[in-house]
Amino acid sequence: MAKILKKEQWSDTIFSMLIDAKDVAKAAKPGQFIILIPKEHGERIPLTIADSDADEGWVQIVFQVVGKSTLELSRMNESEELFSFVGPLGMPSEVEKFDGKVVMVGGGIGIAPIHPIAKKLKEMGNHVISIIGAKTADLLIMEDKLKEASTELLIATDDGSKGKKGFVNLVLEELLATEGDNIKMIWAIGPPIMMKACVESAKKFNAPIIVSLNPIMVDGTGMCGACRVTVGGKTKFACVDGPEFNGAEVDFDELMARQRQYAELERKALELYKSKEGIA
Ligand SMILES: Cc1cc2nc3c(=O)[nH]c(=O)nc-3n(C[C@H](O)[C@H](O)[C@H](O)COP(=O)(O)OP(=O)(O)OC[C@H]3O[C@@H](n4cnc5c(N)ncnc54)[C@H](O)[C@@H]3O)c2cc1C
Ligand code: FES
Repeated sequence: MAKILKKEQWSDTIFSMLIDAKDVAKAAKPGQFIILIPKEHGERIPLTIADSDADEGWVQIVFQVVGKSTLELSRMNESEELFSFVGPLGMPSEVEKFDGKVVMVGGGIGIAPIHPIAKKLKEMGNHVISIIGAKTADLLIMEDKLKEASTELLIATDDGSKGKKGFVNLVLEELLATEGDNIKMIWAIGPPIMMKACVESAKKFNAPIIVSLNPIMVDGTGMCGACRVTVGGKTKFACVDGPEFNGAEVDFDELMARQRQYAELERKALELYKSKEGIA
């Protein structure tokens, strides 16, 4: 059982929790994720490890309430125990010392997973430029942590309430236009539509780009096949082959179609949970 040590609400729908999980904290590497079950009979929720401390034994998760299970998790409080917390899962990010600059692009809740990768890359001596973006300024998360983990931090909001007005991939394109070949690697993490746009931008400049995919996952061990994605024309399982892949090779349209597959069932599950719990 994994105890919730600290809970913070960062916006209407975004929450951060520190979980007491010593073994996971000890083994966690940037790019990896956990799968938790909030309460007995609950659903499995895959969430990226946003930060961890091996000495203190905690793992940070940052999540957005989108449906029944994330709503259930958001209603749990400090000192309560999660039914299950398994990880670290997935392949770690392939971090190295690059002979040039690296760009980290985080959109919305995707800002959380770029944090440990940026932190590690900077520790390794890289020049890290992070671009973080959200719809509005109040939805921007982890700005201070990203500032610390990066050499330069650029901000974009859809409505211009902070930083540059527009999508993160436009800031990425501006950067690629001025820095050119000096950018040796890009990581883009966020909603599939945002990662797809970043890949298109990178392709214009022939720049290499890695994305982190978030298909439906069930077991997280490569056995159930739920998380299959097409990369470079081949079937891959995001839980064991990924979650990071070469962005230029990902079939994003298929990923988005598969994510919408259970939309109606997900809507019903949320309505049922809300009526049971008396939530308006
Ligand atoms: C490797 C990985 C890392 C992730 N990291 C984060 C993170 O750090 N923060 C965060 O907020 N979200 C993250 N997600 C997405 C998160 O798992 C889903 O938002 C959550 O499971 C939705 O559950 P729900 O019941 O509240 O919503 P639902 O109503 O069931 O679904 C809402 C949306 O979430 C997707 N979804 C539902 N169940 C799953 C599932 N088991 N696996 C993946 N997607 C699902 C659906 O396709 C739908 O688009 C990650 C997903 C993956 C695969
Ligand atoms: S989640 Fe089951 S194969 Fe990946």
